[in-house]
Amino acid sequence: MNPIKHMAIIMDGNGRWGLKHKKSRNLGHKEGLKTVQMVMKYCIKKEIKFLTLYAFSTENWKRPIKERNYLFSLLEIYLKEKLEKINNEKIKIKILGEKKFSNKLNNLLNLAEKKTNKNTKLQINLALNYGSKKEIVYAFNKLRYKSKISENDIDHSLYTKNIPDPEILIRTGNTQRLSNFLLWQAAYTEIFFEKKLWPDFKYEDLNKIVKKFYNIKRNFGKI
Ligand code: IPE
Ligand code: IPE
Ligand code: MG
Repeated sequence: MNPIKHMAIIMDGNGRWGLKHKKSRNLGHKEGLKTVQMVMKYCIKKEIKFLTLYAFSTENWKRPIKERNYLFSLLEIYLKEKLEKINNEKIKIKILGEKKFSNKLNNLLNLAEKKTNKNTKLQINLALNYGSKKEIVYAFNKLRYKSKISENDIDHSLYTKNIPDPEILIRTGNTQRLSNFLLWQAAYTEIFFEKKLWPDFKYEDLNKIVKKFYNIKRNFGKI
């Protein structure tokens, strides 16, 4: 068994890659899908059971509508084309975040979750309209009638209930911040900031990070 049960990724740098290579931010998002496919394959090969991908944050609504719509249409096309294949590969899709998109996309996301629900090879958590602070507020609201709240209660009230905390979190795109991602769950996660932009991030880069992870002494407060 791989000691990494859960890998989480902030897929950053598509816009800059697109502007640099194609004069279009949107084409950077399209190119970034190739890296998503690579990471999925990697997780299956290495028997990493949970992969969380930050695809759209609660703050990303501040982007121009053209870019937002492009991102949503990419996702729609991808799911329509690949859902059957994803299901055949025994991949489970779970959405982290409130589904507040077009009816068409909301339905497709619900379908993807329902159809793949029993799959056990790899669980992909797509963080979509995800914000860690929103998630924590959601958990607090769920627990508001309880008189005494434990860590375990909070764990089980987050979108990520029944998902182990990530051992490893990677952010590509040469920026060192969490941007409202998994603030509670990453309390003891090993964090790797990668200079490369998401579309330039290759198998060898990922493998290098994973090897580094294996060499880290994880203390959890002990010595
Ligand atoms: C992708 O990278 C992340 C998404 C919000 C989809 P960006 O679009 O943030 O790319 P940069 O950081 O502007 O280069
Ligand atoms: C974080 O990237 C969100 C996703 C990768 C989906 P951003 O590019 O939106 O983050 P900031 O705004 O630079 O912090
Ligand atoms: Mg960015």
